Amino acid sequence: MTRTSRGYKAWLPAERWPDSSRIEAWKPLLATVTASMTLLPAGEGGPGPTALRELVSGIGTLTGLTPSLALQAGPPMIVLGSAEAAEPSPSEHDMLPLHEEAYVLRIAQSRDNGSWYAVLRGGSERGLLHAVFHFLRLLGTTTTGPVEQEVVETPRNALRMIDQWDNMDGSVERGYSGDSIFYRNNRIQLESPRIADYARLLGSIGINAISINNVNVHHEETKLITSALLPEVARLADLFADYGIQLFLSANYAAPIELGELETADPLDEDVRSWWARKAEEIYAAIPDFGGFVVKADSENRPGPFTYGRDHADGANMLADALAPFGGRVMWRCFVYDCHQDWRDRSTDRARAAYDHFKPLDGRFRDNVVLQIKNGPMDFQVREPISPLFGAMPNTNQVMEFQIAQEYTGQQRDVCFLVPQWKTYLDFDTYLKGPGSTVKRIAAGEVHPFVHSGLAAVSNIGDDDNWTGHHLAQANLFGFGRLAWNPELGAEEIAAEWSALTFGPGTPAAAFVQELLMESWPTYESYTAPLSVGWMVQPHYHYAVDVDGYEYSKWGTYHFADRDGVGVDRTIKTGTGYVGQYAAENAVHYGSIESCPDELLLFFHHVPYTHRLKSGKTVIQYIYDSRFEGAAKVEAWIERWKKLESEMDAERFAPILGRLEMQLDNARQWRDVVNTYFCRKSGIPDEHGRLIYA
Ligand code: GCU
Repeated sequence: MTRTSRGYKAWLPAERWPDSSRIEAWKPLLATVTASMTLLPAGEGGPGPTALRELVSGIGTLTGLTPSLALQAGPPMIVLGSAEAAEPSPSEHDMLPLHEEAYVLRIAQSRDNGSWYAVLRGGSERGLLHAVFHFLRLLGTTTTGPVEQEVVETPRNALRMIDQWDNMDGSVERGYSGDSIFYRNNRIQLESPRIADYARLLGSIGINAISINNVNVHHEETKLITSALLPEVARLADLFADYGIQLFLSANYAAPIELGELETADPLDEDVRSWWARKAEEIYAAIPDFGGFVVKADSENRPGPFTYGRDHADGANMLADALAPFGGRVMWRCFVYDCHQDWRDRSTDRARAAYDHFKPLDGRFRDNVVLQIKNGPMDFQVREPISPLFGAMPNTNQVMEFQIAQEYTGQQRDVCFLVPQWKTYLDFDTYLKGPGSTVKRIAAGEVHPFVHSGLAAVSNIGDDDNWTGHHLAQANLFGFGRLAWNPELGAEEIAAEWSALTFGPGTPAAAFVQELLMESWPTYESYTAPLSVGWMVQPHYHYAVDVDGYEYSKWGTYHFADRDGVGVDRTIKTGTGYVGQYAAENAVHYGSIESCPDELLLFFHHVPYTHRLKSGKTVIQYIYDSRFEGAAKVEAWIERWKKLESEMDAERFAPILGRLEMQLDNARQWRDVVNTYFCRKSGIPDEHGRLIYA
């Protein structure tokens, strides 16, 4: 591991600006830093000292300057440049009583003597830390000298959480970038500098919570809440707290049994209740700002309240009661479905499961329970409709869960920038409380009076030198943080920002990477499972093509292709009735073949291959055309990438080229297998007579 490699530094300040004129232009502003006294490193950690340290080291890296430091009394604030000129602006006064994570950043030129200064003011030290990272992003994306500006930022989502799926043996469930940075051989790797460096990456994009172990909590991880491991977990909590991030643990619902202390985990059993109450006390004694538990219960063979004839409200509330005295929360996952389905049974529809299980429980959960709901009703496919459960329980706190790890979206071998996909969810109007009940507003707690809400996502990092395996997959982690902070940011804006920070502002590499990122999700979609029917991947592994891999299995994931047509009828009249779980506007929209958008057609309808899409193409011709286009697009990317060789460092040029070549193999395989499969099933030839291995 080389902490100095370009990939390791990701989007943070990494190297000196190449043009000395830019350094000269910024010098007056960057050469002096005046900080409020509480921020000075006094041996104590915390976001304030971190903010100051990051600022000084970021300036040093980008410009080679070592700013002189001066003291000032007062609230969390840093002034760069001429401190005398820096009178608070009216908007700074306005924002002071606001959110503790909010900040103002103002860059201005003194009217008196023309000198430049910048004011960074936080609602608290955490807000100030966000301001510093904003300022560093600004430096990292500029090609000019300072420009007058003022931004006032408040995070739109209160909870902006990352879930690690790391196991203590060092593996990462659905990890595509090496092993865990947290654990090895059932030990916490406290000595590893990577953990603090990861906290820094997350802090820099505004993440404020992390759960550090897999939702599938096995034997060793169950012990994270025992006296043997709590002191070490507490040290991890401190590392993250320095970057304003609160630590959570995934809990094993059957921990009282698994740890050999009780014979039941029944949530209504008094012994179980007091066991968890004592456990919470013990945890908070070690980690006073512990966030709470993430729980996967009664899901994919994990234990849960169903074993005792109880429901999810009973289960979640029991844990919530234990955590409540300390302000802790229970993130209760809704990924609950029958994973032992009989494929012959056409009446059961996995897509319905979360809503069917949870909707009737609305109003029964405690205030410190937060339901964590995957973005779609199935499982992080390339394209799925929105989960109908999100927003459908007005009296129950909710967060939406995304998957940054590219389990079904190319596994960090294929480029797939997921921000545009996440935006389709966030911008979606559920109509659950009239027009304008968008997912982003529900997540922000603006539609229902949630006590807690926001966004969570499964991390995509491991101990690969560049964190994410594919260098370009870093854009997804960055993008999630930026979008969780402000879901109004455009996908293109985020792609541009990341590309500039990572490859240098104004460089040909940054320009091409931005374009490639924006094309990548539609491209990945175009050569994999068509028109949202999903799956068609190798079972368990979930990368390579296997059209019928899940067709006759127990997982409830079918496409029902036969000689006449393909797709799942989820209509009310003739199908599984799933579409009826949406508000009437969306139920009608998706329920009719005429109005259902093409890209979601096969999720909601079973149609003949000759069905005409809105584009005028038949389904079969669309399948052929788009598979060919997808593979051709990847070929074209490779040609363009090769032209960048002289423009960029070899450390990143060659591995990215290698990944693009792997992607091309994958795209060709998908193209040929999918096209051949449907050509044989349908007997309909390609209108353009291209090579299909029928
Ligand atoms: C998917 C994934 C599992 C994971 C599960 C979950 O099914 O393949 O590895 O455990 O999601 O979200 O709990």
